[in-house]
Amino acid sequence: MVYYSRTGYTKRVVNVLKQVLASEDFTVDVYVVLPMREYSKPLHVNFRLIYDTIFKKGTSIKFEPSKPKLGDYDLVVVASPIWIGTLSSPIQEFLKRHATMRSVVVIATSVRSMETAKIERIVEKLCGAKPMLCANIRDATIRDSAKLKETVQEVVNELRAVTGIR
Ligand SMILES: Cc1cc2nc3c(=O)[nH]c(=O)nc-3n(C[C@H](O)[C@H](O)[C@H](O)COP(=O)(O)O)c2cc1C
Repeated sequence: MVYYSRTGYTKRVVNVLKQVLASEDFTVDVYVVLPMREYSKPLHVNFRLIYDTIFKKGTSIKFEPSKPKLGDYDLVVVASPIWIGTLSSPIQEFLKRHATMRSVVVIATSVRSMETAKIERIVEKLCGAKPMLCANIRDATIRDSAKLKETVQEVVNELRAVTGIR
C-alpha cells in the first residue's frame, strides 16, 4: 500500500485495511509518500498546495521507510485524500512516475462523497491505466470506527471479486 495523509484520515483507512488484509492472510507492506516540503496549515489557503494540486499536478516526493519496488507486488493499493476535487499532489506525482504500474486499486478519502468514475478518470490521465477498483470513503465514515471497519471489509470483498485473489 502506498499512501499520503496530511490530517490523518487516509492513514486511519490504511491502518484498518492493513489489519483486515493481514487477518485474511495477505502479506502487506505500507509505504508513505511525502512531499519533500510538507504543506503547512491552513491547508485550504496554502498557495503552493493549490498550485501543485491543480496546475502542476505533482510535487517533489520522498518515501518512508523506503522507495517501494512495485514489481515485487501482485497488487498496489494507492490511498489519498481528495484535494480540490482531485487527488493530492504527492499521490498525483506518484501515479505520474509509475505509469507502467499494473493492478492498481485506488482509495480516496473526502468530506463529500465523490463519484468513483471521476476518480478513475483522474488516475487514468496520470498513469495511463484504469484502476481495477476505486473506492471513496467519507470522513464521517472514517470517524466511526465500526462503520469504517465495515466499509473496508466491503472494499476487500470487492477487491477479491475484481482481482480473483482468493
Ligand atoms: C486543501 C484541501 C482540499 C480539500 N478538498 C476537498 C474536496 O474538494 N472535496 C472533499 O470532499 N473534501 C476535500 N477535502 C477534505 C479531505 O479530502 C478529507 O478531509 C480527507 O479525508 C483528508 O485526508 P487526510 O486526513 O488523510 O489528509 C480537502 C481538504 C484539504 C486540506
